Amino acid sequence: MRKDQTKVKAVLQAGTPGQQLTVMGWVRSKRGNKAVAFIALNDGSTIANLQVVVDVTLFSEELLRQITTGACIRVDGNVVESPGQQQRVELQAARIELLGTADPQAYPLQKKGHSLEFLREIAYLRPRTNTFGAILRLRHAMSYAIHEFFHSKGFYYLHTPLITSSDAEGAGAMFRVTTLPPQNPPTTEDGRVNWAEDFFGKMTSLTVSGQLEGELGALALGEIYTFGPTFRAENSNTPRHLAEFWMIEPEMAFYDIHDNMDLAEEMLKYLTRYALEHCEDDLKFLNDNWDKELLERLHFVLEHEFVRLGYTEAIGILEQANRKWEFPVKWGVDLQSEHERYLVEEHFHKPVILTDYPAEIKAFYMKQNEDGKTVRAMDVLFPKIGEIIGGSERESDYTKLKSKIDALGIPEKDVWWYLDTRRFGTAPHSGFGLGFERLMLFITGMGNIRDVIPFPRTPGHCEF
Ligand code: 4AD
Ligand code: MG
Repeated sequence: MRKDQTKVKAVLQAGTPGQQLTVMGWVRSKRGNKAVAFIALNDGSTIANLQVVVDVTLFSEELLRQITTGACIRVDGNVVESPGQQQRVELQAARIELLGTADPQAYPLQKKGHSLEFLREIAYLRPRTNTFGAILRLRHAMSYAIHEFFHSKGFYYLHTPLITSSDAEGAGAMFRVTTLPPQNPPTTEDGRVNWAEDFFGKMTSLTVSGQLEGELGALALGEIYTFGPTFRAENSNTPRHLAEFWMIEPEMAFYDIHDNMDLAEEMLKYLTRYALEHCEDDLKFLNDNWDKELLERLHFVLEHEFVRLGYTEAIGILEQANRKWEFPVKWGVDLQSEHERYLVEEHFHKPVILTDYPAEIKAFYMKQNEDGKTVRAMDVLFPKIGEIIGGSERESDYTKLKSKIDALGIPEKDVWWYLDTRRFGTAPHSGFGLGFERLMLFITGMGNIRDVIPFPRTPGHCEF
């Protein structure tokens, strides 16, 4: 902020009548009569607008005509008590400078509400709406709170790479990273692309998860977390999937699966409480306009212990639910969002942590249970969303991990370094991944993941 600028939030909170100050922002609306005009000014610092009162006799007609919705202005003025009910104070304009006009014929955002679908098409302007202003401020608050949470517990923020040469995680199809010419890439004798001539001397991709490198960090620093973008080239056109999303992945030495579940529950409650305590205005706006049960749901999650339940018991409950599932249920199947939401929203009416999934449907690195069939996985299931967290205790036994890797046919050249951690001072450890946009769906009450990230990337869509 410039030295001579005051943010709208500060004026509304602490402005005192008689004060002279300068605000800068975008015009949300202008109304008035022959004597006086009222400009609703927003600078993004808060969802509320500052009312700027303009004595029209003091300004040129030309200037006033150009102060339209979307225009950017600077106003020097005096804070006065507001006679209106809407606000405590308003600003009496002494000088107005037009920083940028916005042709009313061309500017796509009008005062009336627009549909979320339309706003997705103009995602480059939607941060200027009340809804997206609220969402983006909440996104910031949650990012900050995540760092605060881990820092206060003695975790270290580890930067894991975005470009990777290993496909070991198997969490989803990957986007290739290459500088080879698309027309005539160098080939080997058998006619395949010769990746040895690519930038890194091998085939590389964007990462689907920072976990494997996160484990290397945990087995040295104790407790770490990553927080960065991840990329999955799956053709999933659902309201819960993005091709580029952010993930928070804590990884902790010496934690078993119970410690892991405790941390996940504590973190989700911490973040929920943080939003309720620090983002009241934005949450209230979203509650009033988009999801009337939002605040209630946030309080509900805070106040109840999460249910902890084995996969096998969950399958029993689903089989007895007496419903026609789109995806039939039997032991061994991966749970779909209809099953997850049934458990949370209809059976338990609480968040659920499901554990001990069949080994076949989970990743190679999860700790194998004694029964030889299940692994120490844990998924956290939330109302309206389904899976918000996926994690596990990790297999720390070299021999067991090696035989799993061999059985799955994962090339040792891709994971030798990961296996080495089980040879050199291995330790029990656990971790999980929280999808940041899934968290934002929960915190904002929005129904579509494309609306909780500034610029969504989904199959067929990469605008702005
Ligand atoms: O369950 P996932 O695939 O787990 C992992 O990637 C592990 N490496 C995490 C770990 O143990 N460190 O993904 C974790 C979470 C999911 O629970 C979900 O919230 C989110 O990431 N997620 C997605 N969010 C948006 N779009 C997608 N395509 C997502 N795929 C997963
Ligand atoms: Mg998962």
